[in-house]
Amino acid sequence: MSRKLRVAIIGGGQVAETVHASYYLTRSELELVAVVDSNIERAQSLANRLGIAHAFADADEMYRQCQPDIISVCTPNRFHHQHVMQALENGCHVMCEKPPAMTPEEAAEMRDAARKAGKVLAYDFHHRFASDTQFLREQVVAGTLGEIYVTTAKALRRCGVPGWGVFTNKELQGGGPLIDIGIHMLDAAMYVLGFPAVKRVYAHSFQKLGTLKHSGQFGEWDPKTYTVEDALFATVEFRNGGILRLETSFALNIEPVSVMNVEFCGVNAGATLFPAHIYQDEAGKLVTLSQRESADTERHFKSMRAFVDHVLGAPVSIADAEQGYLIQQLVAAIYRAAESGESIEL
Ligand SMILES: NC(=O)c1ccc[n+]([C@@H]2O[C@H](COP(=O)([O-])OP(=O)(O)OC[C@H]3O[C@@H](n4cnc5c(N)ncnc54)[C@H](O)[C@@H]3O)[C@@H](O)[C@H]2O)c1
Repeated sequence: MSRKLRVAIIGGGQVAETVHASYYLTRSELELVAVVDSNIERAQSLANRLGIAHAFADADEMYRQCQPDIISVCTPNRFHHQHVMQALENGCHVMCEKPPAMTPEEAAEMRDAARKAGKVLAYDFHHRFASDTQFLREQVVAGTLGEIYVTTAKALRRCGVPGWGVFTNKELQGGGPLIDIGIHMLDAAMYVLGFPAVKRVYAHSFQKLGTLKHSGQFGEWDPKTYTVEDALFATVEFRNGGILRLETSFALNIEPVSVMNVEFCGVNAGATLFPAHIYQDEAGKLVTLSQRESADTERHFKSMRAFVDHVLGAPVSIADAEQGYLIQQLVAAIYRAAESGESIEL
């Protein structure tokens, strides 16, 4: 067997441990050799917990000493661009956490650098790897729903401002629920729809509760340093005449504690994504055409598996650098529309 591919993780926090490192450790073709975190105690403690040989505070030192083949970028959003560019310059394949970057310009630069280096750059948009999403995409391609003209994506939390990390800091994250959780449902919706071309977007955003409250489902935050939106509502118009409505919140006075779902309305049938359910109306009665019993929760590892298999040469698709750019472009247009109060043409 050829030598194991050497993997290093940059940013040793929550997602690095529960998703990236946990997955890499299941693959016999890989060797997880290093973790880098600007907080060296965090890097060391993760390395100790998982038996990773090296911990660094500085990525340059890691590249010099470890010569990795694969990098996972799990730092706050602001640092994705620099860490991905550095990984590509060092000849590595990269799995970068979502969102790709802070701006579409950065995401375009990352895509171009990956192409130039001939390396894989994937983003962890894991909802598209759920069996539900894969099934609906197949059904859309097969024409089961007919023309889809209204899609509604929801990533809503009643009071779920993250109490860890820097998710309430606009400088470091680029925004709030849209760039953190709305982006997941946006990606899943766009994937099922086959990335239709966007004509223009409208949006409204609010900052009402994040600066007022201080605790919720995911712990406590400081309302005095809360600088991101807490709810955002957007309409995306496609060139094919259809629309996508997006609703997303960290905090909003709604009944359910959270909703993460997408609904597609086609001429022949409608569908809900999680769990996948395709239905029709017959004389006022709802008739199920097909239904999965429960939503697929294995999607995190499926996303990681697609990346690793792709790197190893298998013909599996990933959330690639071009699609990452298109999603980042949409997020930026939605924020611009919300800030300006004007529609934004793409
Ligand atoms: N795909 C998903 O569902 C999902 C889930 C959670 C987080 N994320 C993404 O993962 C990223 C990290 O989120 P998290 O929840 O793990 O946050 P976290 O705060 O738990 O971890 C981030 C880590 O990065 C370190 N760090 C900060 N700046 C750094 C730098 N310049 N260089 C090296 N290390 C640095 C911090 O010390 C921290 O340990 C974010 O981009 C977030 O959007 C994605």
